[in-house]
Amino acid sequence: MDSTYIPLYEALKRNIEQNPLSFHVPGHKYGKVFEKQAYEKFQSILQLDATEVEGLDDLHAPGGVIQEAQQLASEFFHSDHTFFLINGTTVGNMAMILSVCHPGDEIIVQRNCHKSVLNALELSGASPVFISPRYERETGRHSHVSAEDVEQALKDHADSKAVFLTYPDYFGRTYDLKKIAEVVHRYRVPLLIDEAHGVHFQLGPPFPQAALTAGADGVAQSAHKMAPAMTMASFLHVQGNRIDLNRVRHYLQMLQSSSPSYPLMASLDVARAYLASWNASDKEYLFSFLEQVKSLFRSYNYWDVKATDDPLKLTLEVLSGTGFEWADALDAVGIVPELATTNQVLLVFGLAPSVDLLLLEERLKTLDSQLKKQTNRATIIENQIQFPAIQKLEYSYSLMQRMDVVRVGWQEAAGYVAAEAIIPYPPGIPLVMKGERLDEQHIAQVHALLGQGARFQNTGMEQGVLVFKGE
Ligand SMILES: Cc1ncc(COP(=O)(O)O)c(C=O)c1O
Repeated sequence: MDSTYIPLYEALKRNIEQNPLSFHVPGHKYGKVFEKQAYEKFQSILQLDATEVEGLDDLHAPGGVIQEAQQLASEFFHSDHTFFLINGTTVGNMAMILSVCHPGDEIIVQRNCHKSVLNALELSGASPVFISPRYERETGRHSHVSAEDVEQALKDHADSKAVFLTYPDYFGRTYDLKKIAEVVHRYRVPLLIDEAHGVHFQLGPPFPQAALTAGADGVAQSAHKMAPAMTMASFLHVQGNRIDLNRVRHYLQMLQSSSPSYPLMASLDVARAYLASWNASDKEYLFSFLEQVKSLFRSYNYWDVKATDDPLKLTLEVLSGTGFEWADALDAVGIVPELATTNQVLLVFGLAPSVDLLLLEERLKTLDSQLKKQTNRATIIENQIQFPAIQKLEYSYSLMQRMDVVRVGWQEAAGYVAAEAIIPYPPGIPLVMKGERLDEQHIAQVHALLGQGARFQNTGMEQGVLVFKGE
């Protein structure tokens, strides 16, 4: 099919151009029924916010323009099948895990995974075997997944149903996924990848190798993160026959809304067309912009500017104060970073220049006087924690479901098994998993993060933690 064709978007455009007399949902009737104060900013998107009327197909049983749009995405990404997701990579991760695991099945999972992965494990009743990536001095994080560790876990847990990894990490760090895919396939199980941050890898060098190209069987990608799709719009790709497509489809139908958003789906169609048309001159224009931004940041001696495998991610390793403080200082002058750690600030670029360089320069000049206002960002302080190389939870999920839970103060929590995951946000990667025994290290980490004003996706964190009773 012609890659400039955007079937779903074009169908929505045709639909509104016909001036339909809507006697159907949604209740805003293409914007004709709407709060006046908000209409101006909402109006154009409301025109696209249709429902499953004639000609607009149905995400859950596609046979028209949605099928065509998914087919075009599949062709672009070289998958065997591509699903449009309207609940982010969150739902892609969940559908992949649920489709391969029955209750009690073992599955090998990278420990520092997104919380959607842990939620899926719990829903499936699987018995996860966690592997921790090795600590890398270069990145200051547990970012290196090695083929040897994956193979060891597969040897030790020979009945595992799949291997689930995150590639790249939030900061754009990658590893040799091709080698891992070869190992995993030798054990005749599927390799499932959370590539939330890597949809643009399909564009080829200098971006790292894409997970599908490396041989992954199932790959979820947040098109809204690194490609220009709307928030919550993601792709789920499947290749080969190690994953049962019907099971994936079944879980997507179960987990996704029965009224999927047309603006979100159309934005996937449009983002795919954008990626497909991205060419050498776009690349040259982008990389010259990236170089100018980097050299602007380099001209300040507040930080070391660190490049990573993904050229669209830039890390400022701060030389004094904390990354949280610098992130807030940048924020205060209108330069808004993605996230911070104790000693780093992460900046994320798009696929085209999107920032006025003169304005950036002007704002950076005002930075000094704004420093150290407040701290309210969170992440794991990874270099201070030792994760076991291979680890299982203390109890099965089905047992945890039946156990009583109580909140204990942090000073008495060591030795108990956590009844909730402790999740600093961003990036939403658990510091402690539900079902993991708490130790002094975890508690010191939580205290340090709370002391720095970190945000957690847990309620009552100041008072303590939910643990299983009777321990
Ligand atoms: C590694 C990783 N996986 C999955 C997700 C969830 O993606 P989405 O927001 O598309 O649901 C995120 C979100 O930040 C993430 O960082």
